Amino acid sequence: MIRPILRYGEQVLHHPARPVASLTPEIDALIGDMIDTMYAAPGIGLAAPQIGAPFRIFVVDISIGRDPDGLIVMVNPEFVERDGMQTEQEGCLSIPGFDATVIRPKRVVVTGLDRHGVIHEREGTDVLARAFQHEMDHLDGTLFVDRLRGIKRDLIVRKIRKLSRAGKW
Ligand code: NI
Repeated sequence: MIRPILRYGEQVLHHPARPVASLTPEIDALIGDMIDTMYAAPGIGLAAPQIGAPFRIFVVDISIGRDPDGLIVMVNPEFVERDGMQTEQEGCLSIPGFDATVIRPKRVVVTGLDRHGVIHEREGTDVLARAFQHEMDHLDGTLFVDRLRGIKRDLIVRKIRKLSRAGKW
């Protein structure tokens, strides 16, 4: 089921999510909704807090459904390795209409459970590393604007507040 994507300012996006204690049918349904919502957006990644569920789960598919093996589900993910550096434009489904240059690791290795409880270790470079890092940030209550400095961050936050006051956010 496609669910509404919450936007910057909703409290669940700005607080750390909690680990999943067990893979119940409710959690499985949540993961299904996350996948449907990510593809419908369309986006290359979605974290559970973005649809209002404060759990440490993200889904990523940098092929946006073109590659049948492209879908990655991570429950209770953790970084194993992070190295290098890349600087690219980045956006977020919870901050529509805005993007910014964000510094990220060039390569990351993440470990976590799939929706069946099987542990996987995934390596990502470039776009995939960026997606992993972006979604992991969501699970810690961090959005890409929080990684910007000074004037760039202020500009986006001010525009969001203005849209919000106008009832357009
Ligand atoms: Ni995002």
